[in-house]
Amino acid sequence: MKRILITGATGNIGIEVVHYLAKLNNESEIILAVRNIKSAEKKFASILNLSFRLFDFEKQNSFDTAFKNIDILFLLRPPQISKVDVYFKPLLESARNNKIEKIVFLSVQGAEKSKVIPHNKIEHLIKLIGFEYIFVRPSYFMQNLTTTLLPELQKTQTITLPSGNAKFNWIDVKNIGEITADLINSFENYKNKAYEITGTENKNFQEVSKLLSDTLGAKFKFKSINPIRFYFKKRKEGVANGFAIVMTILHFLPRLQKKPKISENFTKITGKKPTTLKEFIVREKETFTKFL
Ligand SMILES: NC(=O)c1ccc[n+]([C@@H]2O[C@H](COP(=O)([O-])OP(=O)(O)OC[C@H]3O[C@@H](n4cnc5c(N)ncnc54)[C@H](OP(=O)(O)O)[C@@H]3O)[C@@H](O)[C@H]2O)c1
Repeated sequence: MKRILITGATGNIGIEVVHYLAKLNNESEIILAVRNIKSAEKKFASILNLSFRLFDFEKQNSFDTAFKNIDILFLLRPPQISKVDVYFKPLLESARNNKIEKIVFLSVQGAEKSKVIPHNKIEHLIKLIGFEYIFVRPSYFMQNLTTTLLPELQKTQTITLPSGNAKFNWIDVKNIGEITADLINSFENYKNKAYEITGTENKNFQEVSKLLSDTLGAKFKFKSINPIRFYFKKRKEGVANGFAIVMTILHFLPRLQKKPKISENFTKITGKKPTTLKEFIVREKETFTKFL
């Protein structure tokens, strides 16, 4: 029986990875590495046969116990943790010392090109230490609209970002969870490669606001502001420094880059079509229109 340890299990991606892995219903044991076991047990009450282990990225003394007798580690970088040498180096060394050989790492599209982002450094370390690996490199989450961008959308039907006319490729987190579960489950078939996971649409935020308006029958607007103003706006709203920087870079950099590549990996591996933005907006209609 394979033992699969899932980090970041209670977040956007992790919930879907656990859901789809459990649905595959094979012989593997799915173990969730979480910092609060009680609340994680509640969150996953409807899924049978999961196990839980105490694990905290910021507490090195939690690593060894969490990593005992694990065959495959699903590793996710929580958004607020950026210092690779401080957090990920000891984590990966502990994984190695505990004889974990295989890692599936949730990275980001374009990670190989950008030396400054933590995902690039983590990918590099995983290879350097000598793990067998799969890098999952998704594009821009549709769920950003229903998480980080949601408060402003609900309050003033506006999206304010430093993204100008830049195009983003939009992917549903459910699609990422589904393909990641397949990659974990058939690790040997896919190992030692990186997989870009994208949807079929490259759209800028003007186009997305129009799609929101047309689909939901209310007026949604997009406002582009310069990156420095955006950073200070986020700080004023109480966003932590590291995350404000990440949000600024994530939404400003695409203005300087080519438009994202569209990959066929999702369809090739799952045999399904990725969710369209319109399908996503319809699915999340209640969330968007709650305060209209
Ligand atoms: N947003 C995008 O468009 C996009 C695109 C491509 C890649 N990505 C990458 O996706 C990743 C974020 O994934 P996500 O959206 O699923 O994140 P998320 O929803 O913020 O979830 C973070 C997860 O990490 C856990 N966590 C946080 N701090 C922890 C700690 N100290 N110890 C143990 N667990 C901890 C959280 O657990 P708790 O429940 O305990 O808080 C939660 O399960 C990032 O690496 C990001 O760069 C994002």
